[in-house]
Amino acid sequence: MCGIVGYIGDGNAEKIVIEGLKKLEYRGYDSSGIAMNFGGKLAVEKRKGRITNLEEVLEKSDYPFENCHLAIGHTRWATHGAPSDINAHPHFSMDHRIAIVHNGIVENYLDIKEKLIKEHGIKFVSETDSEVIAQLLSVYYEGSLEDAMFRAISEMRGAYSICAIAADEPDKIVATRKDAPLLAGIGNGCNFLASDIPALLKHSREFYLIENGEVVVLDKNDIKIYNAEHKSVVRDVFHVSWDAASAEKDGYDHFMIKEIHEQPKGLTETLMRRLGDDNSIKLDGINLTKEDIDGFNKVYIVACGTAYHAGLIGKYAIEKFAKIPVEVDVASEFRYRDPFVDDKTLFIAISQSGETLDTLAALREAKKKGARIMSIVNVVGSSVARESDDVFYTWAGPEIAVASTKAYTTQLMCMYLVALYMGRVKGAIEDAYYNRLIEELKEIPSKLRKLLGTEHQIQDLAKTLYKTEQVFFIGRGTDSAVGLEGSLKLKEISYINSFAIAAGELKHGTIALIEKDTIVVALSTQDDLFEKMLSNIQEVKARGAFVIGVAKEGNTAIEQQSSHTIYIPKCMDEVAPILAVVPLQILAYYIAKERGCDIDKPKNLAKAVTVE
Ligand code: M6R
Repeated sequence: MCGIVGYIGDGNAEKIVIEGLKKLEYRGYDSSGIAMNFGGKLAVEKRKGRITNLEEVLEKSDYPFENCHLAIGHTRWATHGAPSDINAHPHFSMDHRIAIVHNGIVENYLDIKEKLIKEHGIKFVSETDSEVIAQLLSVYYEGSLEDAMFRAISEMRGAYSICAIAADEPDKIVATRKDAPLLAGIGNGCNFLASDIPALLKHSREFYLIENGEVVVLDKNDIKIYNAEHKSVVRDVFHVSWDAASAEKDGYDHFMIKEIHEQPKGLTETLMRRLGDDNSIKLDGINLTKEDIDGFNKVYIVACGTAYHAGLIGKYAIEKFAKIPVEVDVASEFRYRDPFVDDKTLFIAISQSGETLDTLAALREAKKKGARIMSIVNVVGSSVARESDDVFYTWAGPEIAVASTKAYTTQLMCMYLVALYMGRVKGAIEDAYYNRLIEELKEIPSKLRKLLGTEHQIQDLAKTLYKTEQVFFIGRGTDSAVGLEGSLKLKEISYINSFAIAAGELKHGTIALIEKDTIVVALSTQDDLFEKMLSNIQEVKARGAFVIGVAKEGNTAIEQQSSHTIYIPKCMDEVAPILAVVPLQILAYYIAKERGCDIDKPKNLAKAVTVE
C-alpha cells in the first residue's frame, strides 16, 4: 500500500526520506519516488520497482544533496494506471513549481481533469488520479501553498493523504488528509510527515495525529495545524513507547516468523493488562453496563480477512458466554445489503491496521443506523479506533509481515475477554465456569511457548510437503473457523491453492476433489467432536488423502487415522483456537520458505488495504 514520508530540517533530506520509505516497504508497493527542493528549484526522481532502483538513479545523479533540506517521498501501490515510472509519485504540476505525493483515491478526478484541461489548458502526463492534485494546486497557487491546498481539497472527493511542496516556498511542507492516515513527527530543529509511525521511529517518538479535513504546515522549527475553517488548532502530542528495534527483525529471517514467536508476549500483554486479582475483567474504561448489555438484541461483528476469521470465533464466544445472538460479516459485503442494525445493536469492528477501508465504511454505515460501535484494533490512533465509541486494543505490538499472525491471536484473546465480560455483567455465565476459563486464558502464553518449542518438527513436515499444489483444511465447530485462517495463511504466502471447509460439509461435494496423496489438514481439537472428526478423517483417508491431524495431547487415537499428527497442549475446548492456529501459521511459513517465496511481502498483497 502507498506510503508517505516528508522531512524538513538541516539534515540530508534525501537520505532521511529514503530511509523512511524503506521502513514502509512492508506495506507493499510497486514503485517509489522523491521530490526535493534545492533552494527554489524542485527535482523529482521516481522509478518502478524496489526502492533500490530509485537509489541507483539518485547515486548516479549530480544533485547537491548537501543543500537539500526538504524532501517528500512515496511508495506507490497502483490503483489508477499501471505501475510505471510515469505513474509513480511524486507528481509535478505542469509548470514544475509544485510537487505532491498522495495516498488514496480522488474519486472525482476525471471531472477535475476535464475542467483543468478545458479551462486552464493543463497537459497531463500520467494515468493517475493523483496528478490532478498537483495541477489543481498550481492553478490555485498565489504564494501560499496552504491556501491553495484548502481550495483544492474543497473540490476533491475520496480518501486521501497528501503532501505538497512548492518551488517558491523552499522552507515549507504542506499536507492534509481525509480517511487515510497522516501524522506529523516532532523533531529537534527538524520536522517530519509520514503515513505510518515506523517510518519515523528512528527520529521521533512524538507525533501529532492529523484529523480529517485538517491542513498541516511544517517548517523546520514549527508544525501548525489548521482545521477545516482554517483556524489554528492545538493538538495533544501522541507519544509512542515502542522503539525502532521492535519494528525490525531481531535476527529472524522474516518478520512473519518473528511475529509468530512474539505471540506469547502479545497475548500476555493483551490479557494481563485487563485482569484484576479477582479475575475480574477491565475493558479499558469502556462503560458497558448491565443495562447496556441487556439492551443489545444482537451483536454484529464485521471485519476482513484474518480479522474476519477472528470474528467467527468471537461469535462462538459471545453466544456461548453472554448468550447474545451474533452475526459475523465480511466488511465488503455488509454495507451493500441494508443489514438489520439499529440502536439495539452492538457493532464490533475488528482490524489490525485500523485503516482497512471496507471495515471503516461498514463501521460508518452501522453508526448511521444508530449502533454502538466497539472496535478491536492493534494500531493506536488509527481511523477505526478514532471513529469508534469504544476501543479495545490488541497489544500485539507493530505487525509488519503482510500475513497476520500475532494480531489474530490477540484478536481472539480480546474476543474472549469481551464475551466473558458481557457474560459476567449480564449474569449469563456461572462463576465457576467463568473462573475456569480465565485460568485457562492465563495459561495460554506458557502453553504457546511450549508449542513453539516443537517448531522444528513442523519445519521437517514442511520439507516433505512444499511441492504440493493443493491443500484442504477440515474441522468442526471452532476448528472449522481455525481451518479458514490456516488456509488463508498458506495461500497468501506460499501461493498454494488451499481450501477450508466444515468437515461435515465435505461429503456434500468437495470430497470429489480428494484423491491419492491429496493433503488434508484435519483439525480435531474439540473433545466433544473428536469422534466425529475421526470419521471425517476416515472418509478422506479412504480416498488416499495424506492426512495431517491436529489434536490435543493425549488424544492419541488420531494417530491411527492420520499420516502425521501435530499435538497442541491440553486445554479447554473453548480456548483451543488460540493454540490450534499456531502450527498452521508455522507450517505455512516453512512451506513458503521452502518454495523460495517473498514471505513478508507476498505478491499482489498489501499490509493495509485502504481502497475498496
Ligand atoms: O488491518 P486489518 O486487520 O483490517 O486487515 C484485514 C485483512 O486485510 C488482513 O487480515 C489480511 O487478510 C491479511 N493479509 C491476512 O494475513
